[in-house]
Formats: sequence, C-alpha cells, structure tokens
Amino acid sequence: MAENPVRFGIIGCAGIAGKLARAISLAPNATLTAIGSRSMEKAQTFAAKHKLPESVKIYGSYDQVLDDPDVDALYIPLPTTLHLHWALLAANNKKHLLLEKPTALDVAELDQIIEACQSNGVQFMDGTMWLHNPRTARLKLLLSDSTTIGPINFVHSTSTGLQTDEFFESNIRVKPDLDALGALGDMGWYCIAASLWAKDYQLPATVTALPDFTRNAAGVILSCSASLQWDQPNQTHATIHCSFLSHTTMDLAICGSNGSVHLKDFIIPYKETSASFEFTSGAKFVDLHIGWNVTPEEVRVDCELPQEVVMVQELARLVQGIRDCGSSPSSKWPEISRKTQLVLDAVNKSIELGCKPVCL
Ligand SMILES: *[C@@H]1O[C@H](CO)[C@@H](O)[C@H](O)[C@H]1NC(C)=O
Ligand SMILES: *[C@@H]1O[C@H](CO)[C@@H](O)[C@H](O)[C@H]1NC(C)=O
Ligand SMILES: *[C@@H]1O[C@H](CO)[C@@H](O)[C@H](O)[C@H]1NC(C)=O
Ligand SMILES: *[C@@H]1O[C@H](CO)[C@@H](O)[C@H](O)[C@H]1NC(C)=O
Repeated sequence: MAENPVRFGIIGCAGIAGKLARAISLAPNATLTAIGSRSMEKAQTFAAKHKLPESVKIYGSYDQVLDDPDVDALYIPLPTTLHLHWALLAANNKKHLLLEKPTALDVAELDQIIEACQSNGVQFMDGTMWLHNPRTARLKLLLSDSTTIGPINFVHSTSTGLQTDEFFESNIRVKPDLDALGALGDMGWYCIAASLWAKDYQLPATVTALPDFTRNAAGVILSCSASLQWDQPNQTHATIHCSFLSHTTMDLAICGSNGSVHLKDFIIPYKETSASFEFTSGAKFVDLHIGWNVTPEEVRVDCELPQEVVMVQELARLVQGIRDCGSSPSSKWPEISRKTQLVLDAVNKSIELGCKPVCL
C-alpha cells in the first residue's frame, strides 16, 4: 500500500458497489475507508459478502460517511434521482466525487453538481469505465493516424441486455421516481459517450430519436435508438441503440473513408487481462468480387489492471495532486460528463417531441 493513499467512501450498497470496492482495493494509491447504507444490517451484509477488511468503517447511514474526516473521495452508485442531493452534500463536505452514470436527471442538475465541485475545489468524475481501458487509448491512436481509417463518416454503437421479469417489476432502473431515464440513462449513456469520444468531443449539431422506442406503463424508456449528426468541419453520422429487451451486445463500429474498426465488447471487455479490436484498411473485392483482398487485422492490448481499477487510479492521481500538491481539479472529466448528459437530454427530448430533431 502506498504511503498516503486516497481514502474512498462508498454510499449505497448496489451491485455495482461491489465491483468498485474491489477496484478501490486493487488500485495502487487508493484504499477503501468507509461504506454506508441506509441500514447497518445492509452495510454489514455487503461488507461480509465482499470480504472487506476489518479496517473499513461500516455505517448505517450515508451522512456518517460524508461526515467522516478520513474520507477523501466518495463513490456514489445511488439511483439517479438521488444524485443531486448526495453529490451536492458530498462536494460541500469537500469530498471528491466519483458519480455513477447517468450523472443526473438532466444537464441542469449536473451543472449544479459540477459547480459545487468547482467552488469546493474537489474533483468530479463519472463512472464510465471503458474510457479508461488501455484499449481505448490504443484505438484513439489508430483513429488519429489519418491514412489507416481516414476522416470518420459513420459511428454505430449498441448497448443492450435482456432483463428478467423480476427486473421489469421491481428494478430501480425502470421506476420513474428512481431512474427516470431508463435504458437511455443506464445503457444509452455508453453509446453517446462512445460517439462523442470518436468525434473528439465535438458536439453533434442535431440529435434525432428514431421511432422504434418502447416505454413501460409508467413511461420509462425500455428501448430506443437515435441518430446524431455533425455538420462541421467533417460531416459524421452516428446511430445509437440501447435496450433492456435484447440479448447482451456492446458493439462499436467506426467507418472512415479509408478503413473501419469494430469492437464487440466496448463497454465491458470479454476478458479483464487483455482486450482487442479489429480493423480493415484499403479493402477491395478481389477479381470477380468473390472475396476481399484483406481480412481484419486484430490489435490486442494487454491490460495490467482492470479498466475500473485504472479509473480509480486516475481519480486517485488527480486527488493526490489536489490534496498533496495544491493542484486545481482537472476540467477534462467534468466536461466529458457534461457533453454526454447534454446529448442524452437531447435524445430524451426528441422522443418526447415525437422524434423531431433537437438542435444543440
Ligand atoms: C502513487 O503515489 C505516489 C505519490 O504518493 C506517486 O509517486 C506514484 O506515481 C503513484 N502511483 C500511481 C500508480 O499512480
Ligand atoms: C425526458 O422525457 C420525459 C417525458 O418523455 C420528461 O418527463 C422528462 O422531463 C425528460 N427529461 C429531460 C431531462 O428532458
Ligand atoms: C488507404 O489505405 C491503404 C492501405 O492501408 C493505403 O495504401 C492508402 O494509402 C490509404 N489511402 C489514403 C488516402 O490514406
Ligand atoms: C476532416 O476532413 C479532412 C479532409 O477530408 C481531414 O484532413 C481531417 O483530418 C478531418 N478531420 C477529422 C477530425 O476527421
């Protein structure tokens, strides 16, 4: 363990909190200091299930974690509706924030959170893990080489996973008072983030939902698609599809004028220890059009640490800079979150308007 690690607290014991508890324990300069749940019993069950060390403080409330002076940074995996309240309290208590996606119900809420972080001098980051996978950086390197792929014309991404009857009856992700953005917030977030990432975070000019959306009886989105359009300087079109109604897919395809790239596991790689993508460049048909002149080339990238551990490490690095060296919080991660939330709002709005284009 490092000498002066960044001490994390977790409020809420959702399934994803177990993954982050492990990530925090594996990250070089981070340590888990406290967890809090609405009941002591739940918090204890979580600690036992995830074999948390004795040193982790266990609280039967969220407030106690926020008040604990030994906590530097807070991971918040609570339902989206609760983000604003707890994120503001955390920032005002000078806790750095790792906030689960979708970050808020809308960009107006997220702006309040980011402003609170800024005025309290704390770092903000959302929990989008795949952005931190070393494969993502390797892929960006390929895309930035102007000859292999060339200017990007089209991006397609999906984030789908078939859910159980029990999920549709009782999960927070389909309850309007908890996660009102449904599949769009939970799954579509990744597709929007991937489209923006591919375009180096230039915002699309227009966002248009496609007419195939499905809602549950309470109006929560269970499945939807949308089209994102960039005009300048290079026209690009992205389609996204997110759904609780189809089998697990996490496809990302990027087509440029001279090559294309495909990933089938962009959000959670098939394996923790390495991840790959395939690309083709300069493809043509052979004589008589009975085949191609090239087959896809695979690029495999070793992952020394799982992507969620790299994410925690990145936050810990920024927090150490602020806490120990007087650095200012980085604006990179809050800006990425804000753009993602802004486009997500536009998709929601377009659905609400009967699939009319929404200009950004
Ligand atoms: C851990 O923190 C120390 C400073 O305390 C720093 O020198 C080192 O680079 C950090 N390691 C990682 C992996 O971030
Ligand atoms: C999303 O759309 C629903 C209605 O379809 C609306 O009630 C809600 O306010 C919208 N959210 C945002 C952020 O626009
Ligand atoms: C397209 O890719 C092929 C094969 O990699 C390469 O030979 C060619 O120069 C590229 N064309 C452009 C315009 O970059
Ligand atoms: C836009 O297109 C031009 C020429 O087609 C190209 O040189 C440039 O790299 C492209 N920019 C991006 C961001 O793709």
